[in-house]
Amino acid sequence: MIHKTSPEVGGMGHSVKRKEDSRFIQGRGNYVDDVHLPNMAYGHVVRSPYAHARIKSVDTQAAMKLKGVLAVITGEDLEKAGLSWMPTLFHDKQMVLATGKVLFQAQEVAFVVAEDRYTAADAAELVEVDYEELPVLVDPHHSTDPDAPLIREDRDEKSNHIFHWEIGDKQATDKALSDAPVKIKLSTVFQRCHPAPLETCGCVADFNPATGKLTVWETSQAPHAHRTLFAIVAGLSENDIRIISPDIGGGFGNKVPIYPGYVCAVVASLTLKRPVKWIETRSENLQSTGFARDYHMTAEIAADKDGTVKALKVGTLADHGAFNAAAQPSKFPAGLFGICTGSYDFKNSFCEVDGVYTNKAPGGIAYRCSFRVTEAAFLIERAMDALADELGMDPADLRLKNFIPPDRFPYKSPLGFTYDSGNYKAAMDLALKQAGYRDLLKEQAEKRKKGELMGIGISSFTEIVGAGPAHTYDIAGLKMFDSCEIRVHPTGKATARLGTKSQGQGHETTFAQIIAQELGIPVAGITVEEGDTDTAPYGLGTYASRSTPVAGAATAVAARKIVEKAKKIAAHLMEVSEEDLEWEPGKFYVKGAPDKAKTIQEIAFAAYTDPPPGLEAGLEAVDYYDPPNLTFPFGTYICVVDIDKGTGEVKVRRFIAVDDCGNIINPMIVEGQIHGGLTEGLGIAFMQMIGYDESGNVQGGTFMDYLVPTAVETPHWETGKTCTPSPHHPFGAKGVGESPNVGSPAAFVNAVVDALSHLGVRNIDMPITPWKIWRILNEKGQVV
Ligand code: CDP
Repeated sequence: MIHKTSPEVGGMGHSVKRKEDSRFIQGRGNYVDDVHLPNMAYGHVVRSPYAHARIKSVDTQAAMKLKGVLAVITGEDLEKAGLSWMPTLFHDKQMVLATGKVLFQAQEVAFVVAEDRYTAADAAELVEVDYEELPVLVDPHHSTDPDAPLIREDRDEKSNHIFHWEIGDKQATDKALSDAPVKIKLSTVFQRCHPAPLETCGCVADFNPATGKLTVWETSQAPHAHRTLFAIVAGLSENDIRIISPDIGGGFGNKVPIYPGYVCAVVASLTLKRPVKWIETRSENLQSTGFARDYHMTAEIAADKDGTVKALKVGTLADHGAFNAAAQPSKFPAGLFGICTGSYDFKNSFCEVDGVYTNKAPGGIAYRCSFRVTEAAFLIERAMDALADELGMDPADLRLKNFIPPDRFPYKSPLGFTYDSGNYKAAMDLALKQAGYRDLLKEQAEKRKKGELMGIGISSFTEIVGAGPAHTYDIAGLKMFDSCEIRVHPTGKATARLGTKSQGQGHETTFAQIIAQELGIPVAGITVEEGDTDTAPYGLGTYASRSTPVAGAATAVAARKIVEKAKKIAAHLMEVSEEDLEWEPGKFYVKGAPDKAKTIQEIAFAAYTDPPPGLEAGLEAVDYYDPPNLTFPFGTYICVVDIDKGTGEVKVRRFIAVDDCGNIINPMIVEGQIHGGLTEGLGIAFMQMIGYDESGNVQGGTFMDYLVPTAVETPHWETGKTCTPSPHHPFGAKGVGESPNVGSPAAFVNAVVDALSHLGVRNIDMPITPWKIWRILNEKGQVV
């Protein structure tokens, strides 16, 4: 039972208004591009127009002659310093500036530094690169063809194949498939897409020759990890590097890796001994920086005639572009894709993934996603609909029949995860009720008779967030714990510092609420700081909805350490023994005599003015939290669509999202997270793809062709919640930020396929554009 604090204290469960919004709504946020330092220079990247070409020469003379140009750095210059390549976050390396050849369109070739941004951009046009075009590999299905061009000549393996990864029991799965009375096979693609955060990537690197200290303001979701990697790669002393992630305008995984622009700005600052700023343009961000997904997947399900599922077999081709720069735990080549059995009780499963290189920008990052859980959830939720279709069964009934029942938790999945807790039926029941599902089915049947196209799509996803237990999860060798340090000041106010980094999620509010809950100090008197490696304790950062499960847990545990010390001080102040004291958030009181009490403020003051003899002064604690397991939030989403037979336009009429993330810290913030993630899911399902033509030219490199949903396209989101606490988390919370992005694409697609299923349509790959639908309708003679 969580003690309910007063609204003034604002602990768990209060919709406290976001503390950080005060500066944002006044236009007083402090983003990287707001950093202006005296004598600052500006960098601009020269990029390749070709997807695959040998570099015959790079001529920088004309650029250097332009007034105001300070330096032009090439790959050869970096090579001399041993910096032309850098390690990626996943067992590969990546060119900082190209040497020898370029491997994708918009690859970084040179870095121009000038007195101002415009001169740097003009000078970049004057850098003359002589290219010799090479054959281009765009289609991952042809990566391992004998005549496919070899992309990575630098590797010992003379092949475009990166890895083969498999898990599960192949023999038992194959046997179940061959014995099963009912089988389905679904092939689908989760297209290459992009998080497109409002703020692009950038940095200001400031090497101070007087102190030998390098300060880098950076759009980083993981500043401590970046500091360590900068120290290792550049050979700098880690204590002389300070990474500051100021306000971040959306990250969604895009700001986890280290990009060449950051390294170039650092090299330029070290060379020129001046601060150097580099800020990406929108097109640079879309074309070259951290794509997501690009999974080409096939699922086979074996089932009984009554719909009981038996086995799941999954095969996937993963297009990683020119470098394997996936930002994910190092033991998991396909991230947490093994969660693909989802919410269902499969007895057997087998999953294999092959990663390949192509002439495309590197990735893939976990876009609002726990390392490929989005692809996994999409596949299983699409496949369950295909099975329902095959059986002629209602997709809700099929899911209800196969859900892992609540009494089976903790549940060991056939692909090796132990789900902490779940009650999938409760979420489904609530979603069906909120949607008025049975009435919707009747309405659909009537509309079909009239020739109208209406579809209902369901997705009952299981998530996996909060990496992770350090014995299994690390990024580039760094264990995935997280941290919080709390200092309670003499007047009973507090400052907390964490190893995470908010990019819009509201951590300054929610982490203060955790402390308010644990200590009874009002939220208004608690400051939360993140993102400065000189002050915050070491942590692995914010992505994959890990902040609440890991750093949130560290915050509660650190606060509980403070309560332990506060107890000794309270006993001293009230001259009673510690055993006689009872705690409720905000005060210790004597058992049986609640009026005899000392508040946390009185105790804090005494910690500095009257500590008990033998006890050190001060009231602070730090915790580095290593979670015993991940957390497994879940939900059921129901989407209702109408399709215009004249234009092929899909209108999302209703969308019901029931989420379960255990105990909630701030209901308003959680609601906001769900709205945002659903809107991103809408964009992915209907509008977005980073496509390539056969020459490797990016199609989707501007907001003219990579569309972002606006208020006009975005429907009203109807939300609901159930609460199944995590049994191992200190206050029963699970992460939530990515759930709507993970769960929604399948609901949208299932709804559209459902609207067209009576015409024989079984699959439509995203993005579902009006043109795609119109063509299908035209083929089926349905266009009016
Ligand atoms: O790691 P990230 O912050 O992106 O994801 P998260 O841990 O799911 O948290 C997103 C936001 O929702 C944070 O402000 C959390 O504190 C808040 N949240 C909450 O209020 N209650 C939960 N059970 C989970 C998250």
